[in-house]
Amino acid sequence: MNKWLFLLFVTSIAFAGEPSPDRKSTLRNLLKQDCGACHGLTLKGGMGPALLPEVLAGKSDELLISTILEGRQGTAMPPWRPFINHDEAAWLLGILRKP
Ligand code: HEC
Repeated sequence: MNKWLFLLFVTSIAFAGEPSPDRKSTLRNLLKQDCGACHGLTLKGGMGPALLPEVLAGKSDELLISTILEGRQGTAMPPWRPFINHDEAAWLLGILRKP
């Protein structure tokens, strides 16, 4: 196997489930512009609730990831599944949980 292909192979295993650097910057933009439209530019809340680490602390990954992917029926929170996959939602949640 070509040396570069091999490196690519190894790094793709190491980072399985993590979005690529390109995709991460797309997701960061999405968070600021789309999520920020409702949750506030600094995520301190607006039309939607604050998404700060202390607010999310008592809630499970499972609940929050499914909220991001499926939205919440009967509220303004829309489903994001058409735009992001499970791993990407998990990665975004990781950002939200980071103080
Ligand atoms: C159109 C407005 C809107 C947009 C855009 C939006 N949200 Fe929401 N979001 C809401 C509302 C309203 C709720 C509260 C739903 C409820 O009452 O349970 C919510 C709830 C949530 C929750 C659950 C919070 C909790 O404490 O249970 C998470 C996590 C969340 N949103 C993440 C996101 C992310 C990530 C994005 C961008 C990909 C996003 N939201 C975009 C309106 C929005």
